[in-house]
Amino acid sequence: MRRLDQLLANLGYCTRREARDWIDDGRVTVQGQPATGVAQKAAPADVRIDGEPPDHPDGLLLLLHKPLGLVCSHDEREGPNIYSLLPERWRRRNPVVTSIGRLDKDTSGLLLLTDQSLLVHRLTSPKHKVPKVYRATVDRDLTPELGPLFAAGTLLLEGEKDPCAPAILNIVAPREAELTLTEGRYHQVRRMFSAGGRTVLTLHRTRFGALELGALAPGQWRELPLDAFDRDGGPTAGSADVVVRPA
Ligand code: URA
Repeated sequence: MRRLDQLLANLGYCTRREARDWIDDGRVTVQGQPATGVAQKAAPADVRIDGEPPDHPDGLLLLLHKPLGLVCSHDEREGPNIYSLLPERWRRRNPVVTSIGRLDKDTSGLLLLTDQSLLVHRLTSPKHKVPKVYRATVDRDLTPELGPLFAAGTLLLEGEKDPCAPAILNIVAPREAELTLTEGRYHQVRRMFSAGGRTVLTLHRTRFGALELGALAPGQWRELPLDAFDRDGGPTAGSADVVVRPA
């Protein structure tokens, strides 16, 4: 059971102060009857707002194809951000919708967004080693010694104390490769290639755990069930429709 003003405000419909007007105007019903006041408590399933069930009352989990040129920060001073792609109401939710890890402004591809902090923690924790696959093009031909360099678990990035966890490099063209990481350090792919003497020219994430972008166009998203991941970040039966390959 949730207070109606809290429900409306947390789901981004209006502020708690405005909720009073929404209720006075008869826009909110509980079990078919006009809501009696902001302090009335109700189960979201019993509530209708302008005749519609509440918008994702249990939380949101989205798989976004992040386009180039947008940052993952909420801070407007850092430039146009991915949240501008979402409906206004979702941008006003509390807890806020946030990305699970980040992609750079100049990186495109698969990005998960959620308002579930537990999920953010679970999927970004290095403990769970959720594999993320990146496709990179570089400025010079790739050579076979890069595979063992990235796989060794000894590669030390500039300014860091701990070496990178072993990563798998799959060279697919002279200047193009897929790199699978199980951690997510700042600019990690670019810095790893830089340590290997290459500059990354383009970077795109194709997979996150068992999830793939599929035919999703840049800027588009699809919703995932909130139980798409198990406690270790692996896929669940509930995610069967969105999982393309096992992790
Ligand atoms: N590594 C990078 O360098 N950039 C990203 O956006 C993600 C991983």
